[in-house]
Formats: sequence, structure tokens, C-alpha cells
Amino acid sequence: MCSATSRVILPEPPEELKLVSDKLARIIRAKIELNGAIGFSDFMEMALYQPGLGYYSAGLHKFGETGDFVTAPLLGDLFARCLAKQVEQVANELDQYEILEAGAGNGVLAADLLKFLEHSHPPDQYRILERSAYLRQVQKETFSRVVPHWMDRIKWLDKPPDSDWQGVMLANEVLDALTVDRFCITSEGIRQLQVGVDSDRFRWINGSCPTPIEERVQAIISGLERPPGHGYCSEINTRLSPWLEAITASMNKGVALFIDYGYPRTEYYRPDRRDGTLICHYRHRAHDDPFHWPGLTDISAFVDFTALAEAADYCDLEVSGYTSQAMFLMACGLDKMISNFQSLPQKQQILMHNQVRRLTSPTEMGERFQVMALGRGLSEESGLALRGFSLADLRYRL
Ligand SMILES: C[S@@+](CC[C@H](N)C(=O)[O-])C[C@H]1O[C@@H](n2cnc3c(N)ncnc32)[C@H](O)[C@@H]1O
Repeated sequence: MCSATSRVILPEPPEELKLVSDKLARIIRAKIELNGAIGFSDFMEMALYQPGLGYYSAGLHKFGETGDFVTAPLLGDLFARCLAKQVEQVANELDQYEILEAGAGNGVLAADLLKFLEHSHPPDQYRILERSAYLRQVQKETFSRVVPHWMDRIKWLDKPPDSDWQGVMLANEVLDALTVDRFCITSEGIRQLQVGVDSDRFRWINGSCPTPIEERVQAIISGLERPPGHGYCSEINTRLSPWLEAITASMNKGVALFIDYGYPRTEYYRPDRRDGTLICHYRHRAHDDPFHWPGLTDISAFVDFTALAEAADYCDLEVSGYTSQAMFLMACGLDKMISNFQSLPQKQQILMHNQVRRLTSPTEMGERFQVMALGRGLSEESGLALRGFSLADLRYRL
């Protein structure tokens, strides 16, 4: 996601949206009152996915310049053009292939990919695993406008595919939307940062840590060269392995590509990152208060790419590549695309260069966003080196 960070004044939502948020807040408060306090992952689950009210379920406008944030595919079609080059390379190794996209947002990436691939190596079908019923509808509208001739080969799934398939799985900015738990290191040991209520307002509570979370945090911290000290708080996603296993179990040959903001573990849990990586978006303002108008605010956390690599190992997937978004796009041919801008009218050239800057600049998406490829049944047999990772191999940092 791309938006301004730093301390910001958040605009007031319109009255009708405040009512939606109040309704969701009442439901969350009722759950807290029943339990005393809830883990942050439960809060995040409701704030993002409560049917009809959560951020991704409520049918409010989220993506693009008039929404809350912009993702790489929404900046223009260069991101999809580059990704198509990586997909083509994998597809060339297979007699037939399909694409499975998790969390397709407003469907722009899928539509652009299909436009580019249909001339070279079109997939047999494009399947989408999307939690939000509202976004499925938005995706359908995008496809019927942009690639209507693909409609009968695009399928929506309610759960990961059961039967074996081969091809490419894609997830752009999906891992950051998976729910996380929060913890703090204190003089009494590891505590869970839970969500409680005080005078109708949500507040953080330092509660006892469920054993599975405590054990995972202990294992992470004891493996760090510079472990963080007392007062340090951060996030952990304990459901990543089962999620990855479910979504990739039936991919018997192919590559899963994950693109997201994140760090390798040593950086993720750096002692000076004392308040973790949680990031919220509202009307293009990035802030750190997940309790701000629940349901109207996007909540996400950076991805621990070492945890993704560990989950891959558990799922019998090979980490076939890990690099920054800038290096991935360049290796997929962005440099050649840039040299072709000269033939465009000047105004369009400026727009295209601006798009490249936002995708690749270290201060925008270029470094903060990273790409990981998880392969199965492909690279070992054919010795396939994925082109997107040919310029910079950052696996040594995991
Ligand atoms: C930040 S948006 C990114 C959308 C899109 N990929 C893009 O780049 O514009 C996150 C997307 O992931 C979806 N999502 C979140 N959790 C999911 C899950 N467990 N399975 C499938 N989709 C999920 C959301 O509904 C939403 O479509």
C-alpha cells in the first residue's frame, strides 16, 4: 500500500459511516464483555471481516485514489506486465497451467494479467480465492468491463482447491491482511496485548499469553542475535503455516508468488522497532491506531518473510526466490519497458516514469515490498531459475 505516513490528523468520516462503525464497535464490545478481553487477532478478524460491517465486507470504497490506499496493480499496468513475464516463464515449463489468485482486491491485477497473457501463454482458467463477498462483486464488474471474453474461465472459490492443479498462485498484499496477535516482553515474561473496553472505548490490556503464542515468541526471540528487551511489543502470525498449507496443498507443480511489505526476521524483530509493525490506513493516511473507527479503517501488519520461509518448509515447498519488489520488476523486464517510453507522447511518458518511481523507489514500494517465490515439483526437476530473482537473491537474509 502506498500512502503518507507520520503523525497525521485523520479526517472525520461522514455521519452515515460513523453509524456503520458504531454498529460494528457494539458487536465487538459485546464479545469483549462476554470474555473479559479478546486477543488482537479476534479484534482484527471482526474489524476486517465481520459480515456486512467489517472493513473488507462492508461494501465501502477502499482502493485507489478515492479510497484508503493504492496497491501496486492500481498504479497502472506495469506491475502486471512484469508479473506476466514471470508467469510465462513458469507456464512454459508446463503442458497446461492455471492461475490461482488469493485476495484479488478490485480485480485489476487479474484483468491486466489476462490481457497480457492471452497473446502469449493464456492460462486454462483463472481462479480467485476471496473472503469478501463485496469484493467478489467488484471483481466481476471489473472483468465484465475489461476482459468480458474471459468471464467463463474465471472462477471464484469458497475454499482452496481440493483437486490437484499446476500453475501459478499469486497473492499481492494478502499476507499483510491476515490476522496477527500482539505481544509485549515485560519483567514478568511474555504478555499478550489484548483488547478490552473502558467507558465504551477500546483499550490495550496486558494479559497472560496463551501457551502456543508464548512458545512461538520464545522460539523467535531466542533465535535472534540481538534479542529485544523489556517494553518491546510486536506482532506474530501463528496461523500462517496452516493458511499456507491449505492454499498450496493441491498445487502439485508450480510456483506461489507472495508480494508484500515485510522484512526478514532479524529486521522484523529489530530491538529498536519497539512498537511492532502494525499499520492502519484511512483516506490515504497511515496511522497506528487500530481502534480508530473500526470497519472504516484498514488494519495490517508487515510480513515476517522468515516465518513464510519456515511455513514453506513445513508445507514441503521450496523457497525458490526472495528479493525486493524493485529488483523483481527490473529482472522481469521493467528496464526494457522504460526504454520504450520514449515513443510515447510526453505527458504519458511523465505518467509512466511516475509509476516506475512509485513501484521501485526505496522510499516508496521498491524496498519495503518484497517478493518470495515458493516452488513445488518444478525447479528441482528442470533446474528452473526464476527470472524475477536473477538480479538479486536475498535468501541469505532469511
Ligand atoms: C490489501 S487487499 C489487496 C488486494 C489486491 N491483491 C491488490 O493488490 O490490489 C487484501 C485482499 O486480501 C483479501 N483477503 C484477506 N484475507 C484473505 C484470506 N484469508 N483469503 C483470501 N483473501 C483474503 C481481502 O479481501 C482483499 O481482497
